Amino acid sequence: MSETTPSSSGASTETPLFLRAASGENTSRAPIWLMRQAGRYLPEYRALKEKYTFWELCRTPELAAEVTFQPLRRFAFDAAILFSDIMTPLSAMGTEIEFAPGPIIQHPVRSANDVAALRIPDAEEIAPFVPKIIKLLRSELKVPLIGFGGAPLTLATYLVEGKGSKDYPLFRQFLRAEPEAAHQLLEKLTQTTIRYLTTQIEAGAQAIQLFDSWAGLHNEDMYQTFGVPYIQRILEALAPYKVPRIYIAVGAGHLYPLMGQFPVEVISADWRIPLDRVRPLVGDKTLQGNLDPAILLATPEVVKAEAEKVLRAGLGGPHIFNLGHGIFPQAKIENVATLVETVHNFERSQSA
Ligand code: CP3
Repeated sequence: MSETTPSSSGASTETPLFLRAASGENTSRAPIWLMRQAGRYLPEYRALKEKYTFWELCRTPELAAEVTFQPLRRFAFDAAILFSDIMTPLSAMGTEIEFAPGPIIQHPVRSANDVAALRIPDAEEIAPFVPKIIKLLRSELKVPLIGFGGAPLTLATYLVEGKGSKDYPLFRQFLRAEPEAAHQLLEKLTQTTIRYLTTQIEAGAQAIQLFDSWAGLHNEDMYQTFGVPYIQRILEALAPYKVPRIYIAVGAGHLYPLMGQFPVEVISADWRIPLDRVRPLVGDKTLQGNLDPAILLATPEVVKAEAEKVLRAGLGGPHIFNLGHGIFPQAKIENVATLVETVHNFERSQSA
């Protein structure tokens, strides 16, 4: 049975709203999904976490599919995101990550030898459970499924630093002290990521988001050297599949002009700069974002007013509503409900 998406005019079309907006259509309402929409703000997620570890949830197809579905039972989101983590492919490369609750890398990468010890796994070895989860989800989902991965620079940030940090000084110094080892590490991460994301698309992921959470740590030159070429290669490798590609960097307002050059359909903006000011910097792309996730700790009245500000700032072109970064565990359920309702009720100008 083909899925239909009612538009605000009451007509229906074959392609779901999220995919239309992600492909550059200026839709008559903005689709909405939230980064980390499955997670600790939901009591049903916390209940599963009493019984299973995070990696058990990620690595057991039925559990990962269940967690992906949890937010969709409560809220009318326009897309689902695979429940997993950007660290998922690292285990097959030969390095184990734990969450305590921040990430801990058992053997941080600090030298050319450490880089040499990492493998580039075959596509089927990277995370064999992921294609299974995707197939399970596609057989039941009524909205499009987003697959995702971490950008090489962000994955390298964790691998070198060895744990979460505010400023990642060890990593930033490593890029300068060991540029060759850094490039070899980024190369291995790039090849693994291309295989991993390709596998997700072949299994049924209908869009791909590349998370570059820590790109904003770097100045333009460093990003140009250690970020851009690898991101570009991943995005180009996905081009033949014709699924929309979404790129997000956080705290990276100074890098928007460089992101504007990427072969990507959607740029996801954090909350620091309003969408009407981001749009001219990134060119002819769909914008995703960018409510400050902290607002979901406020009251429904504040959520509605702030969401409408974001919606108005997004009117200059195609827009997918989202937060500027992942939802906080302290977010209030009633606020998420108000947010979805506000976005669904907001009429944008006639579709193009
Ligand atoms: O969006 C979704 O609903 C899909 C699931 C998802 C998770 N992580 C689940 C998760 C996604 C898309 C991610 C991406 C991710 N993971 C990013 C990029 C987005 C961002 O936040 O910048 C990053 C940097 C990570 C790495 C990561 N994973 C960290 C730093 C942590 C610990 C800190 C934290 O927020 O808990 C995780 C763990 C993690 N990943 C949890 C979830 C639900 C929490 C685990 C738990 O339940 O305790």
